Amino acid sequence: MATQITINQIADYDGQEVELRGWVYHRTGKGRLQFVQMRDGTGIVQCVAFKKEMTEDDFALVKSLTQESSVIITGSVRADERAPGIPGGYEVGIQNIELVQMAEEYPITPKEHGTEFLMDNRHLWVRSRRQWAILRIRATIISALRNWLDDNGYLLVDTPIITPAAGEETTTLFEIDYFGQPAFLAQTGQLYNEANIGSFGKVYCFGPTFRAEKSKTRRHLMEFWMLEPEMAFFSLEDLMDMEEQLISAVVARVLEKRKPELDILERDLSQLESITAPFYRITYDEAVERLQKLVAETDDPEQKELLNIEWGEDFGSPHETAIAAMFDKPVFVYHYPTAVKAFYMQPVDGRPEVCRSVDLLAPEGYGEITGGSERIYDKDLLEERVRTIGLPREAYAWYLDLRRFGSVPHAGFGIGIERTVAWICGLPHIRETIPYARMLNRMYP
Ligand code: 4AD
Ligand code: MG
Repeated sequence: MATQITINQIADYDGQEVELRGWVYHRTGKGRLQFVQMRDGTGIVQCVAFKKEMTEDDFALVKSLTQESSVIITGSVRADERAPGIPGGYEVGIQNIELVQMAEEYPITPKEHGTEFLMDNRHLWVRSRRQWAILRIRATIISALRNWLDDNGYLLVDTPIITPAAGEETTTLFEIDYFGQPAFLAQTGQLYNEANIGSFGKVYCFGPTFRAEKSKTRRHLMEFWMLEPEMAFFSLEDLMDMEEQLISAVVARVLEKRKPELDILERDLSQLESITAPFYRITYDEAVERLQKLVAETDDPEQKELLNIEWGEDFGSPHETAIAAMFDKPVFVYHYPTAVKAFYMQPVDGRPEVCRSVDLLAPEGYGEITGGSERIYDKDLLEERVRTIGLPREAYAWYLDLRRFGSVPHAGFGIGIERTVAWICGLPHIRETIPYARMLNRMYP
């Protein structure tokens, strides 16, 4: 009797008869010998059909298999160093084959396709080797983030997606009709996290977040996943310490668990191996000085224009890329101008024009992957910010309440999953880091 297994278990079944269920990735061969690369979600294995070892019908079926046909194959496993596959090193001699469905002509072939075509066929493209590798690394990044937090005293507390008020900039809200009342898709879970620390001390939320940004860059999605830790009695320095511990643990976990997938992506592993705490830390002031020096020294007029910056301006992607390129590990930039950051950020003592904020810039041009800060915990100061910014006080009454009943210094940050996946996988564009990207000109499939 054949044992039903998955391809990732194949090494444990050398010399035995197994049953595999999956899809035809590729078929080649001629005459009496056929090779079927079969995938089942866990890996790819080469299955070999010899005319003389099978019934005539089964052999004819193998020869007629189209790409992506679904099949159940039984056969014997044998070690063979040369056998391609994931993990590779084993092949299956086909004894029987059962057809589940003969696939129609498959639109995605090994030849080159344009990105728009592939995105239109995303529901099929997810089966391709590179996409398979990326989404498996994504899953590992998410579980590594969550495991580290769970193991270090953070409690997962879910926050709502339908919200009555803005959490970040009011210009990027997706408005919905909530039984006749306006409501918004969550831009962040942070404000609720700040309530939850009053009960649990250290918390995090993880979920989809929505930004109606009319932005078409390779770093922006309308719907992205964010993980947001929030901690009571935490300073900006505590926050940076914690972030670098968390992120280096995540990278180490991906290197440990997802080596074959990183190989498929041809990722330069030495870049990831160097991601160990501590990371670099510079102030916004220093970052601006470094940029201005770069602008002064470059002969390239395009770079001069792109990187030109005055103190007080927010960084764009080119600035972030240029700053990150000055370092061989991620770099924290802290104390941004208060005017370019969110209303809830704590001003720096004695210098209110800058705030206790910190962004983490990833190396290799990936830009901001986390954003966080100390939060204003003084009731009067927060009241004043809500008033001067013109936020509707009623909608924030509960948030202001938190400053009335045992308010404490606290801090937190959000890490964007897709930007982190792009960086760790070494991908030029964010669209491949999420199963079904929502972008300015795309919500299909
Ligand atoms: O810097 P952001 O806007 O911070 C917040 O939302 C805070 N409330 C988080 C907190 O302190 N709890 O977003 C955090 C991260 C960014 O660093 C980036 O990685 C990602 O979320 N992000 C996006 N990713 C993809 N597409 C977009 N449009 C994104 N906007 C932000
Ligand atoms: Mg930010």
